[in-house]
Amino acid sequence: MIRLKISRLLGQTLLPVLLFVLVAIWPTDTLFSQPEEIQIENERVDLRNSRPAVTFPHELHMESLDCLTCHHVYENGENILDEDELDDDGSASCSKCHVKSAAINLKTAYHRQCIKCHRGLNREPDNDLPITCKDCHPKK
Ligand code: HEC
Ligand code: HEC
Ligand code: HEC
Ligand code: HEC
Repeated sequence: MIRLKISRLLGQTLLPVLLFVLVAIWPTDTLFSQPEEIQIENERVDLRNSRPAVTFPHELHMESLDCLTCHHVYENGENILDEDELDDDGSASCSKCHVKSAAINLKTAYHRQCIKCHRGLNREPDNDLPITCKDCHPKK
């Protein structure tokens, strides 16, 4: 009896609503086609590659932060990146520019960006964002 009611409810109202929502949010741009989490593990970040991959909840960050907070293409000191051009073709990768010979190497680029922001936000009494090594680098 109850089951019947639920399935009818599903068929008559919920399903069409769900379909509508699905169509409405269907990926028309890169925003919705991103994986929720990104495993960050670049080869040869440093010589040892001593730490396991870092799990980065990308979607969570996308929800509350401007893309250009983290993604950039600098020209004369200005971030000229058009966020519509962010794609998963590798052009968004930090490793594309933060190569070993760059002023800021890859490990430093990540650490400076991730930890600096978390540390700042942790000044708010209720925040407890990851800032210690083991918060981001689980034991192997
Ligand atoms: C907020 C997250 C975060 C914190 C905190 C953090 N790291 Fe990282 N770290 C990263 C990310 C992201 C990378 C890039 C990982 C990659 O590409 O393999 C990285 C890379 C590294 C690398 C180079 C890659 C490797 O596997 O060897 C080392 C070494 C490292 N971190 C050590 C540390 C140490 C030591 C601490 C504590 C002092 C620390 N990290 C704290 C996020 C963090
Ligand atoms: C808190 C920082 C941060 C924010 C905010 C952020 N991203 Fe990212 N994004 C990253 C990092 C770090 C990576 C991993 C880069 C790498 O693998 O080298 C990444 C990867 C990507 C990739 C490549 C995905 C893949 O699987 O290779 C795309 C596309 C992307 N971001 C788009 C966006 C868009 C669009 C927004 C805004 C709606 C956004 N990002 C917001 C940090 C951020
Ligand atoms: C298209 C090339 C390019 C890409 C891709 C790129 N960077 Fe950068 N990044 C730069 C340049 C150039 C600078 C300026 C460094 C300098 O002064 O030499 C910079 C500066 C930085 C700085 C210090 C200044 C600032 O803006 O806060 C951090 C931290 C940083 N990058 C992290 C990252 C991270 C993390 C990613 C990936 C999400 C990334 N970068 C992707 C080119 C790039
Ligand atoms: C500009 C600010 C900013 C930057 C840069 C940033 N984060 Fe965060 N991070 C946040 C905020 C805000 C939250 C809390 C989001 C929420 O809970 O809604 C968070 C939460 C997290 C969490 C905890 C998620 C959870 O489930 O509690 C992890 C893990 C994390 N960040 C990893 C990273 C890594 C790795 C990087 C660098 C690649 C990074 N963050 C860069 C602002 C930032």
